[in-house]
Amino acid sequence: MIRHFIDIRSLGKNALPLINRARQMKREGFRGELLHGKVLVLIFEKASTRTRISFEVAIRRLGGQCILMTPAESQLGRSEPLKDTARVLSRYNDALIVRTFGEEKLHQLMEYGSIPVINALTDQGHPCQVMSDVLTMYERTPVLASQEVAWVGDGNNMANSFIEAAMLFGFSLTLACPEGYDPDMKLLAEAQNCGAKVRLVRDPAEAIQGANYVNTDVWASMGQEAEQRAREKAFAGFCVDAKLMALAAPDAKFMHCLPAHRGEEVSEEVFEGPASIVFDQAENRLHMQMAILEWIFSEQ
Ligand code: CP
Ligand code: NVA
Repeated sequence: MIRHFIDIRSLGKNALPLINRARQMKREGFRGELLHGKVLVLIFEKASTRTRISFEVAIRRLGGQCILMTPAESQLGRSEPLKDTARVLSRYNDALIVRTFGEEKLHQLMEYGSIPVINALTDQGHPCQVMSDVLTMYERTPVLASQEVAWVGDGNNMANSFIEAAMLFGFSLTLACPEGYDPDMKLLAEAQNCGAKVRLVRDPAEAIQGANYVNTDVWASMGQEAEQRAREKAFAGFCVDAKLMALAAPDAKFMHCLPAHRGEEVSEEVFEGPASIVFDQAENRLHMQMAILEWIFSEQ
């Protein structure tokens, strides 16, 4: 059976062991040969610093090799159907790590290809990032079920993956999003029906009140650049600044997947301040993705 990594929800009972394995790999500075002789393709239709580089390093640390494929330098940018690309790459390669727009593209690659597909961000989710963020929280507070997490800002790909993480890891999640910028409401309802402690509010102060972790992200995600101005208006009052952070729990941490826009979704003071753990989050991308790659390629 081919293992894919498309979203957090589908991990089910594998989720916590994966976090623990990533922790162990981090502690050991793990290097291995599991991917020896394997070549993975990174299909990136959007820009990336952390995801691309941390995957490249993770693959090399596991003994494998990788190739970057972008629309500008391949037939992807000249409209070759994805189902053809999937079948071609499956003849040469061992996995596809894909950053794209609609999640349906991942499903097409899985349907027509015959190698594992890993979601490196879509408009709907960013599971590698949020698994790394769960690892970052878990390192500090292993009893995740007792933790309160606030999401302040856009109900975007990150917010959706956080809802899935709350379903599996049991922390309570309060999302504050302006009207019109909600997360996937079907997913939210599903999470609530499963008993997850997830709720949506409109007031950032309400979400941050007493929170142990305060998360935010850019107001305009990749592909939404034309909406920047309109979003700046809609998100007025949503900048995580010292005044908002003062409402959080005494030892609360500030989190951001990066890249950050200082002065928009977060103030310079909070971003650079002692509560900020953003570079630990960035580091954990490497360790988490090593664990994900090991899980995908391990004997089943
Ligand atoms: N957080 C994150 O995914 O960053 P990149 O866009 O640089 O990969
Ligand atoms: N929501 C952001 C995350 C970037 C890592 C985006 O999709 O652009």
